[in-house]
Amino acid sequence: MSEPVLQMRGVERRYPTGAGAIEVLRGADLALARGELVALVAPSGTGKSTLLHLAGLLERPDGGEVFVQGRAAGTLDDAARTAIRRRTIGFVYQFHHLLPEFTAAENVMLPQMTAGVARAAARERAAELLAAFGLSARLDHRPGRLSGGEQQRVAIARALANAPALLLADEPTGNLDAATAEQVFAELLGQARGRGLAALIATHNPDLARRMDRVVTLREGRVTPV
Ligand SMILES: Nc1ncnc2c1ncn2[C@@H]1O[C@H](COP(=O)(O)OP(=O)(O)OP(=O)(O)O)[C@@H](O)[C@H]1O
Ligand SMILES: [Mg+2]
Repeated sequence: MSEPVLQMRGVERRYPTGAGAIEVLRGADLALARGELVALVAPSGTGKSTLLHLAGLLERPDGGEVFVQGRAAGTLDDAARTAIRRRTIGFVYQFHHLLPEFTAAENVMLPQMTAGVARAAARERAAELLAAFGLSARLDHRPGRLSGGEQQRVAIARALANAPALLLADEPTGNLDAATAEQVFAELLGQARGRGLAALIATHNPDLARRMDRVVTLREGRVTPV
């Protein structure tokens, strides 16, 4: 088997509080093979967002190690971690986190231009990605003039902008009505499968989770199969 796109080994995360530390992750292990789509379904407060932020190199664990395409991230400085994040990882949040003063196309262009892609090429790729989500007529709309479902589609297109190997999504349709959530989730999975991405997607919806290759949960700070 080729090396996992994402591997988390013995990952620990605790948050200090007045009453002592909360141990959120207590030795979490998880490996995602290339092209593998994994759902993370666990009750509120068990550490899904925490796990995704650690996997996305947005935060550092208190113990254990996160490997992205075989490379240990713990010993890298912030600049090297940012470079891996930019090239290899796409992240989708529950609330789109689009930049309000930029258009849909510009939101998808920005990560590409930050990675050194020229403006015209970035615009072309943004138009292609947004077309894949049925948004060709919305390229020049700012987020405030898009529906919730359209905003999430743009956020997913942005996550795909730099052709990542790993897609991480934190309840990407949690903020949408059931019918729209269903549609956007299907499009997300279709794009991830079509591009051969590994994906870890937190969701509260068991019907959506069942469409993925594997479902895991968090129990006492560890990742366990469902
Ligand atoms: N920055 C922080 N400081 C202190 N405690 C935190 C911090 N972030 C998260 N926590 C705590 O860690 C636990 C896990 O939080 P996390 O956001 O990862 O849960 P979650 O599974 O994503 O929940 P939800 O389904 O509600 O989004 C919670 O008890 C939360 O209160
Ligand atoms: Mg969360």
